[in-house]
Amino acid sequence: MSFPVAVLASGRGSNLAALIDARDAGTLPITLTLVASDKADAPALRNAEAQGIPTFALDPKTFASRREFDEALFANVAASGARLVVLAGYMRILDAAVTAQWQGRMINIHPSLLPKYRGLHTHRRVLKAGDLEHGASVHFVSAELDGGPVIAQARIDIHPGDNEDALAARLLSREHRLLVAC
Ligand code: GAR
Repeated sequence: MSFPVAVLASGRGSNLAALIDARDAGTLPITLTLVASDKADAPALRNAEAQGIPTFALDPKTFASRREFDEALFANVAASGARLVVLAGYMRILDAAVTAQWQGRMINIHPSLLPKYRGLHTHRRVLKAGDLEHGASVHFVSAELDGGPVIAQARIDIHPGDNEDALAARLLSREHRLLVAC
């Protein structure tokens, strides 16, 4: 049986690509019902289109409020038949009413060992703090930014001489495995 999943992505979409690869390899029994974005030019959308996955983009600037934008976006998500939403590099804060509606049915991948480093620039912040380890977390989405219950984490060591790009790149391959596993 294949589980219907919608993905929201704002950018590159390498985590989406990992889900597609695992689906194609037969190791992840999902149907991707929709890939949606707040950025019409997101590479993630182009990849989904090339794979024959339905896509949808909405421009936040054309909505009067966050709630109206999210209601329109998630109306499409619901209409796609998805029973789980995966935020895979989706860079917009969600409206609290929408997160409440999807509570327990929406997960996010975040590039830090939550509860450390919620929000942006996690690689920079972990280096600045002098931490010895870094990681990624997959968690249920709640109204609190990067604050919902953690499902699983991946950890990596920070090497002497690591910079933001090196750390991000080394973590990304671990993110892909973590997201698929979750
Ligand atoms: C990933 O590193 C993901 O953890 C991060 O954005 C990147 C998206 O990469 N997400 C966040 O920072 C969410 N707050 P991708 O577009 O290649 O999947």
